[in-house]
Amino acid sequence: MEMMDIRIVNYETKYLDAIRAINVAVSSHPNRPADEKELCRHLYIDYYAFYSAENCFVALDKNDEVVGYIISEPDFGRYRKHMLEDYLPEAMALREDFGDKIRQEIVPYEKWHDEYDAHLHMDVKPGCQRKGLGTMMLERMLEHLKDIGCKGVMLQVSRKNEKALRFYEKNGMKTIDETDPYILAIKL
Ligand SMILES: CC(C)(COP(=O)(O)OP(=O)(O)OC[C@H]1O[C@@H](n2cnc3c(N)ncnc32)[C@H](O)[C@@H]1OP(=O)(O)O)[C@@H](O)C(=O)NCCC(=O)NCCS
Repeated sequence: MEMMDIRIVNYETKYLDAIRAINVAVSSHPNRPADEKELCRHLYIDYYAFYSAENCFVALDKNDEVVGYIISEPDFGRYRKHMLEDYLPEAMALREDFGDKIRQEIVPYEKWHDEYDAHLHMDVKPGCQRKGLGTMMLERMLEHLKDIGCKGVMLQVSRKNEKALRFYEKNGMKTIDETDPYILAIKL
């Protein structure tokens, strides 16, 4: 895979299955039960694809195959309202304790959103990692968020994910909260 063959393009609905598949392929818990997979799909992919599509990008190789994605939400209020008012009852109907998982997910964003109004998630397809693709996608996203007037962006990373921590630090992000997951952020 040559980096010059890679294009970063705006997210479109036709890429949804491919980004869901990459998210599953990089999962650190591939054997989780179906209801947990459904929760994760909503929390880490579908919310952004459906409600914040204009702030999402995918990386395509020369055959137009999706080899990575970066998705974000610059509007914490919209995210919070969706998760707590619209999605929470649906998730709790799947499993009672999913309510707590959703509230937990929101805690760091709630704490830091005054300084870092946007948050993001990203993954690169296995086999395509460590070739500069993540850096390319992150640069594109930071430029986009800056252009639309965001003050900063943050993300959550497991403290055990040393490769990702190194990646974000190399790209100028700082750890602002050393609870688990760590919160990394950058001002724009
Ligand atoms: C983390 C991730 C998004 C980085 O994207 P990438 O395209 O692999 O990263 P780049 O090639 O742009 O990496 C640049 C730097 O990141 C660090 N890095 C990335 N992958 C690494 C690895 N496997 N081992 C060690 N360091 C790594 C290195 O510092 C690297 O610089 P170097 O190659 O000069 O040493 C990607 O590897 C990935 O999706 N990993 C699996 C899922 C994941 O952890 N997602 C993030 C969840 S928060």
